[in-house]
Amino acid sequence: MKVAILGGTGKFGKGLALRLAKSNDIIIGSRDRSKAKATADLYTNICKKHNSNFSNSIEGEDNVSAAQSANIVFFCLKLGPALELASSLNLKKQIVVSPIVNINSQESLHPRLSCAEALAAKLGFRDRVVSALHPIPYKRLADIEKPVNCDVLVCGDDVRNAMKVCKMIEEIGDVRAFYAGPLKLSIYVEGIAVALVSLAKQGNIENPTIRIV
Ligand SMILES: NC(=O)c1ccc[n+]([C@@H]2O[C@H](COP(=O)([O-])OP(=O)(O)OC[C@H]3O[C@@H](n4cnc5c(N)ncnc54)[C@H](OP(=O)(O)O)[C@@H]3O)[C@@H](O)[C@H]2O)c1
Repeated sequence: MKVAILGGTGKFGKGLALRLAKSNDIIIGSRDRSKAKATADLYTNICKKHNSNFSNSIEGEDNVSAAQSANIVFFCLKLGPALELASSLNLKKQIVVSPIVNINSQESLHPRLSCAEALAAKLGFRDRVVSALHPIPYKRLADIEKPVNCDVLVCGDDVRNAMKVCKMIEEIGDVRAFYAGPLKLSIYVEGIAVALVSLAKQGNIENPTIRIV
């Protein structure tokens, strides 16, 4: 599978790229193509250091080209930049994954509209938008020497598309992905991550996440 990670130079995108590169070809997206290429080289070196047999490709592109040439597109950008970029894309077949959490209430769009639904509105389609990955702190993803040790809830209107994303997430290893329902439920799933960030700020638990039992 060809996976684009838009904002792949950032904190969350890095860990996601390193984990998904085990079984997919990755395209790192950035506003700056040369930064994307340098970051892709860096991630390739990390993967090769971790696994001397590593042979998948990690390339770098501008965000628009990265999205156009992939099968699955992860929006690893903050809400504002994600919505701006989504308006400029014309994705005819790609599945889009939103891990976006609206931590900053100043960016609030509408009290009952999730980030994933806002993204779908800008993209101009809804059935290929899947909401996932919110409760994984980036530090858990980026340390590829350690298991991630968490579960994620996945929302999407097209169950087949959501299940494809669940399957890919489970390739990370030690992460279970559960289909939780249609995209309109994403507001509640995103809310769990907002509570986890608040919990982390209280300082007693490092990189808190969830397990479903
Ligand atoms: N961090 C976490 O632990 C975590 C956990 C779960 C979900 N998430 C979600 O994942 C998404 C990414 O979070 P993050 O912490 O990785 O963000 P980040 O590191 O702050 O930013 C990611 C990338 O966004 C690009 N960017 C920054 N400002 C921009 C702007 N004004 N316009 C366009 N692009 C801009 C930058 O890439 P270039 O400079 O290369 O373009 C940057 O590397 C967020 O929606 C967040 O809610 C994060």
